[in-house]
Amino acid sequence: MDSGNGAPFAASAEGNGHQPFRSAFIVKASNGWATREDLTFAVLRKADAAYVGMCGVHPARGWEFGYWFGKAYWGKGYATEAGARIVAFAFEVLNAEKLAAGWFYDNPASGRVLEKLGFGACGEEARSCLSRGSDVQCRMVVLDRAAYMTRKSAS
Ligand SMILES: CC(C)(COP(=O)(O)OP(=O)(O)OC[C@H]1O[C@@H](n2cnc3c(N)ncnc32)[C@H](O)[C@@H]1OP(=O)(O)O)[C@@H](O)C(=O)NCCC(=O)NCCS
Repeated sequence: MDSGNGAPFAASAEGNGHQPFRSAFIVKASNGWATREDLTFAVLRKADAAYVGMCGVHPARGWEFGYWFGKAYWGKGYATEAGARIVAFAFEVLNAEKLAAGWFYDNPASGRVLEKLGFGACGEEARSCLSRGSDVQCRMVVLDRAAYMTRKSAS
C-alpha cells in the first residue's frame, strides 16, 4: 500500500458514472493527510502496481475504518489483506483505543471482510450513501485494542 496523494485515485479505471462523487472523494482524500481528517491509502497490487482500491481511517467514534475496491478486483482477498494493514496502522501507529466500521446490510461480503479482521457487531443505523442518494441501513461493528492485541498474539 502507499499513502494517498491524489494521483493513484485519478488513475481509477472504474467508469461507472459517479464522476462528481469521485472528484469530491479525490479532493477529500488528497487533503485528508494534511488535516488528519481522512488518512486514506491507495491499495496497489504487488505484482504490477495496479490500483485496485483504497482503504483508510478517519477520526469518528475514536477512529473509523473504511474501504472501497474496484469490482474487477473483488474476491481475491485484497480487502482482507489491505484491511489488516490498516487495522495494524490504527492500533500501532495512531494508538487507537478502538476502531469502528459499518457495512451496508445488502453487502454481506463487506460484513465478512470485517468479521475476518476481528470486528464484532455493535448496532445498526441508517447512513447516508452518496452514490445511491439515500440513507441505507448500516450494520455497525467495532474492534477494540484488547481484542486486537489478543488476535495479534494468537497469530
Ligand atoms: C466488500 C468488498 C470490497 C470485498 O472485497 P474483496 O477483496 O472481494 O474481499 P475479500 O476477498 O478479502 O473477502 C471477501 C469475503 O466475503 C465473502 N463473500 C463474498 N460474497 C459474499 C456474500 N454474498 N455473502 C457473504 N460473504 C460473501 C468471500 O467468500 C470472502 O470470505 P472468505 O475469505 O471467508 O471466503 C467487495 O466484495 C464489495 O462488495 N465491494 C462493493 C464496493 C465497495 O468497495 N464497498 C466498500 C465496502 S462497504
